[in-house]
Amino acid sequence: MSQERIFVSGPWVTEREVEYVAEAARTAWLDKAGEFNARFEKAFAGYIGSAHAASLPSCTAGLHLSLAALGVGPGDEVIVPDLTWIASAAPISYVGATPVFADVDRSTWCLDAASFEACITPRTKAVIPVDLYGGMPDYDAVLAVAEKHNIPVIEDAAEALGSSWRGLRAGKLGRIGVYSFHGSKTMTTGEGGMLVTDDDEVFKRVQFLRDHGRIPGDVSFVNAEVAFKYKMSALQAAFGLAQVERIEELVAKKRQIFAWYAERLTGLPGVSLNAEPAGLLNSYWMVTVVLDPALARSTGLDKARLMALFKAQNIDTRPFFSPLSSIPAYAGTPEAQKARARNKTAYAIGPYGLNLPCGMTLTEAQADRVCAAFKQFLNSNPGA
Ligand SMILES: Cc1ncc(COP(=O)(O)O)c(C=O)c1O
Repeated sequence: MSQERIFVSGPWVTEREVEYVAEAARTAWLDKAGEFNARFEKAFAGYIGSAHAASLPSCTAGLHLSLAALGVGPGDEVIVPDLTWIASAAPISYVGATPVFADVDRSTWCLDAASFEACITPRTKAVIPVDLYGGMPDYDAVLAVAEKHNIPVIEDAAEALGSSWRGLRAGKLGRIGVYSFHGSKTMTTGEGGMLVTDDDEVFKRVQFLRDHGRIPGDVSFVNAEVAFKYKMSALQAAFGLAQVERIEELVAKKRQIFAWYAERLTGLPGVSLNAEPAGLLNSYWMVTVVLDPALARSTGLDKARLMALFKAQNIDTRPFFSPLSSIPAYAGTPEAQKARARNKTAYAIGPYGLNLPCGMTLTEAQADRVCAAFKQFLNSNPGA
C-alpha cells in the first residue's frame, strides 16, 4: 500500500472561519455589504501597523493598482528581482512599463541592493522588492539605494505576512505593501489580497482606481476615468477576518514547521535552507532547500529530478521559481537578455531549489518522513 500523500501547502480552517462566512452569507448585503470588509481591513491594518488597508481580489491586483496609483506607464522602467513569481512583474507589463530584472542575494534569495542600484536608469520609476518564501532582502541596503535615487518602493509581501525587518512588519518597508491570500498562503481567503500604505494621497487614488474611478460612496454612476474593478467580496473578507484574528497562531505554526525541518536538515553539506539573518523574523511561508550547484551537478539532483523522486514517495513539492528572464513569457525581451548575462546568483539558485511540504496542518511525523526521504536521495546519489 502506498504511503499517505503529503501535500505541499494547505490552509488551517477552524469553526471561526466557517461561522463568520455563514454570518456574511446571511447578513452582508445592502447597507451591510461592506461591513466585513471594513472590519477585515481595520484588523489587518492594526496588525501591520499601517494607516490604511484595502482588501482586493488578489495581490496581483494590488501590484497593478500600486503602479497605476504611482502613475507608472509606457516608457517607464520598474526594477524587480529576477527570481520571483511572475505576478511580481506582470503588472509592470499591464501598465505598459518595462520590467528590469535585478539579481538576488545568495543567502536571502531576495533583491541584491548592488544589483538594484546597477539597474537604475533615468527611466526607473519604481522598485518592487519581493519578500521571497517569507524571507526579506537586506532592507537597510535596499532602502538606502531607493532613497538615494528617490525611487518609490512597492513591497511585494505576498509571501511574507508575519515576517518583520527590524521590528517593522513585512509590507511596511515601502511606500506601498501588498499581500496575497491565495489558498496556499499562511493566511488565506481562498483567493484575495490586501494593499497597505501610510500615504493618504496614494490610498485615495487606490480607492478611486479600484472601483471604476469612483470615490467611495459615490452613487452618481458617472465615472471620471477608465479604471479597474478590484474589490474583495464580503464572504472572502469574513473568512479573512477570522484568519487575521488568528494570525499569531498561524505564523507560530509556520515557524514550528520550519524548526522541525531545520533540526533535521541544518548542516547537510551543500544544502541551504531559508535564511534568518540578524534583523529578520522569517515567517517561513515555504520551507525551501537549495542545493549547491556543484552538489546538484555531481549527484544529478536538480529540482526536476528531486521532485520526481519525492513524487514516487507520494510527497508533493514545488520547484523554486525559475528566473523570470529565463521563462518564455519574458525570455525574448531585450531586458531578459541583459538579465541572463548579469544575474549569476539567480541562475545558481533557481534550477536547484525545492519547496518542501509545509501546509498549515503538517505534522512533525510528516516532516520527518520528508526529511528521511530527502537524505536518502542525497545518500543514494553521492557526489562523483
Ligand atoms: C511573490 C508573489 N507576488 C505576487 C503574488 C500574487 O498573488 P495573487 O495570486 O494573490 O495575485 C504571488 C502569489 O503567489 C507571489 O508569490
